[in-house]
Amino acid sequence: MRTDRTPGRVRSELLAAGTWSARHGVARVAMKRARKQGDLQAQLFSDPAVRADPFPLYARIRERGPVVKGSFLAATASHAVAGATLRSDAFGVVSDPEALPPLARWLMTRPNRTIGPVTPPSMLAVDPPDHTRYRRLVSKVFTARAMAAMRGRVGDLADELLDRAERESRADRARGGAPVDLVSRYASLLPVTIIAEILGVPTEMRSTFIAWGGTAAPVLDIGLSYREYRRVDRAIRELNEWMAGHFTRLRRDPGDDLLSQLVRAEHELTETELLAIAGLLLAAGFETTVNLIGNGAALLLKHPDQLADLRADPAGWGNAVEEILRYESPVQNTARRALRDTEVAGVRVRENTFLSVLIGGANRDPEVFDDPDRFDVHRANAREHLAFSSGVHYCLGAALARIEGEEALRRLFERYPNLAAAGTPRRRPTRTLRGYDELPVRLG
Ligand code: HEM
Repeated sequence: MRTDRTPGRVRSELLAAGTWSARHGVARVAMKRARKQGDLQAQLFSDPAVRADPFPLYARIRERGPVVKGSFLAATASHAVAGATLRSDAFGVVSDPEALPPLARWLMTRPNRTIGPVTPPSMLAVDPPDHTRYRRLVSKVFTARAMAAMRGRVGDLADELLDRAERESRADRARGGAPVDLVSRYASLLPVTIIAEILGVPTEMRSTFIAWGGTAAPVLDIGLSYREYRRVDRAIRELNEWMAGHFTRLRRDPGDDLLSQLVRAEHELTETELLAIAGLLLAAGFETTVNLIGNGAALLLKHPDQLADLRADPAGWGNAVEEILRYESPVQNTARRALRDTEVAGVRVRENTFLSVLIGGANRDPEVFDDPDRFDVHRANAREHLAFSSGVHYCLGAALARIEGEEALRRLFERYPNLAAAGTPRRRPTRTLRGYDELPVRLG
């Protein structure tokens, strides 16, 4: 096979390799070395057994102290420190280009780069004042009240998707019978359809969005291999290109959806900022909630007594969703950088410390949650979890995600009293996002 060696191609390969080295390559080498020396954080980000069950390691990190220094990163699994860090203005995002060496800074900010969710100008990857400016433009649409008005639509859609899954399952059974995969037929379709409707992007595109989202999901992890990074980068680039074409269509023929409003606010946003906001809203809108629904379904199937309580008293579903978010947080970690010497929850942290905030660990902190490794839908303080983060980056879609989780799970379990697991679920290979790729069930 001939490889394309044109100067343009060689240049783009070199840029990709440079960007990978700056974002993942150096961390990958440092992590491998640190893991051999027994560094707990390195195990967290690179040990396959830990990916399957990170909770014992979070407990070990917490036992060592509220902030544990590793050879390349500090970490906290303490609820008090995690919450205080996320709310403190002495901490900023880790992706600020100003904090990087000159070559890495140029690679992260060069024109024609891929615009992803964890590099500027994504809302998730910038500090105020830019963050405030982006968030102001979209927050009006995601108010708790506006989302409450969506509940009826979310419920109707859940029913429609279950009607279809049931029809398909009957057809499958007639052909010899196969279990229904709850993730692909239900948990992923519900949030992607709702966010597509809110943004005003065509719902016929939803399987393409799911495919791009699934391929790009490891972008939140650190230390990707070059091959994985290239796959992720290609998926994000395809989304960028599709979105740019969609903006062109909206400029010609605007609607009254959120993206049309953002395109109209063009004097306030560059094209790159517009791409970053739209791409983040779309991907964050479904890549996380799919895990809430999948994790919730798996947990309740494993705890039939608690499921029976919910069937008997549907008022408990709101708290059950909080407990699912606490116990199996769909976003397991984030990170912050200390902008100056500071103190969080009584712990001193030096300027420029990179602190991994282990959300999944903070949510199992026994200082806050009694018997934290027990799943309990009746837990009185389940809502104190940090699954949606805290502070200025607090999840914009939290109200929507809660409604989607509640409606999706309640309708599923009320409709199918004999719903049962039918095979081994398969976990997603990602570390930051925790959920299932496949969850085979029999509807009953
Ligand atoms: C169960 C579902 C969800 C979970 C667990 C979740 C979790 C999170 C977390 C942990 C963050 C902050 C990360 C950090 O502090 O570094 C975040 C931010 C964000 N989320 Fe969600 N999310 C969910 C659903 C959604 C939905 C449905 C949307 C739809 C719009 C959304 C949009 C966003 C956006 C735009 C941000 C960035 C906010 C900012 O930087 O100011 N999320 N989410």
